[in-house]
Amino acid sequence: MDKGTKEEKSHAQHTDDNPDEKKQNSSKVESSEAEDQSEMERLRKYLAQKLRLIDLSNDQTDESQQSTLRELNLDGIVEYIKEKESCKIITMAGAGISTSAGIPDFRSPSSGLYHKLDKYNLPHPQAIFELDFFMKNPEPFFTLARELLPEGFKPTLSHYFIRMLWEKGLLLRHYTQNIDTLERVAGLPPDKLVEAHGTFHTGRCLKCRAPYTLSWMKEKIIEGVIPKCEECNEGVVKPDIVFFGEMLPDRFQMLADRDFEQADLLIIMGSSLVVQPFASLIDRVRSTCPRLLINNEKVGMQDRLSRFLGLRQGLVFDTKNTYGGRDVAWLGTCDTGCQLLADKLGWGDELRALVQREHESLNTESRSNN
Ligand code: OAD
Repeated sequence: MDKGTKEEKSHAQHTDDNPDEKKQNSSKVESSEAEDQSEMERLRKYLAQKLRLIDLSNDQTDESQQSTLRELNLDGIVEYIKEKESCKIITMAGAGISTSAGIPDFRSPSSGLYHKLDKYNLPHPQAIFELDFFMKNPEPFFTLARELLPEGFKPTLSHYFIRMLWEKGLLLRHYTQNIDTLERVAGLPPDKLVEAHGTFHTGRCLKCRAPYTLSWMKEKIIEGVIPKCEECNEGVVKPDIVFFGEMLPDRFQMLADRDFEQADLLIIMGSSLVVQPFASLIDRVRSTCPRLLINNEKVGMQDRLSRFLGLRQGLVFDTKNTYGGRDVAWLGTCDTGCQLLADKLGWGDELRALVQREHESLNTESRSNN
């Protein structure tokens, strides 16, 4: 469902039972609203300056903040991509692009991983990915890792859509929070990929930092043994997944600094946008850069304080006011949204064929390995 279109229509259809009375009322409302707004604007600027929260030389009421999309919906995005010469697109993804491959996300009610961890007796669900907790008790993580090992899962249509953006020369970079390595399996080249929360692909000893491969760790994890370092015989070997309390990879910091300000379009897929610093990447594109969210639900929205202070933080959907006019939410599954976007761009059949070809080749590979 294209939310942008539906909500715009419902505004347009707003009718007036008594036009004269309404006219008077509405002008009263407008004039007091105008006073409120200018008062609000003064207060906003005062607070923002006092708190040094924004650079007012770059204020959002600036002409340059006008919408770059003719329509605030998927069609507007498609038109923008088609018209823009070599549109530089950044994609940002979370667990929602992999759920159709059979990998659970974290926070979806009932199906999300954090709702299924009772058996581990954790102080709170996220503890399973917290460094302090892991140092004291690595067992719950490794028990869970047996279920999460990136094995036998096939990339989804959304993964291949991202690859297609790359093949069409439109992908500036793909930033993922996922550790399932499915972007690599889908054939996205490593230089186009930023695995912000690390990867299961490699691991290292927490004591002496000796490196280990996935296949070495996998053997221990499948046996139900906690992988211990064979160099120092002391440290636990932890996959190179970024736990809460750890720094994100240098590659993330370095590339985010230069990529986001160059982007012409940001596509965010399958994330609740609650984990920092990843979530705040959405605010690092230029203030005119359109942002498309493809997700089951609206996420990452601007909060009231940010709106009041005029901070350019968070997504502002379904509005063409001075603080928005560039954000589109398409609500539904990532695969359906990506296929629809591909269809509208004229690449639909090509995407379907790519998925079929790649899945067949992965099936053949797995049969010959067994
Ligand atoms: P979440 O589980 O927090 O959010 C997944 C989002 O995707 C939710 O908004 C879902 O509604 C949506 N979703 C799920 N399946 C979908 C589908 N098929 N199509 C469309 N939307 C779908 O996952 P992340 O945002 O990735 O960190 O979580 C971020 C981080 O939190 C993870 O990287 C992980 C976790 O703690 C670490 O492991 C360090």
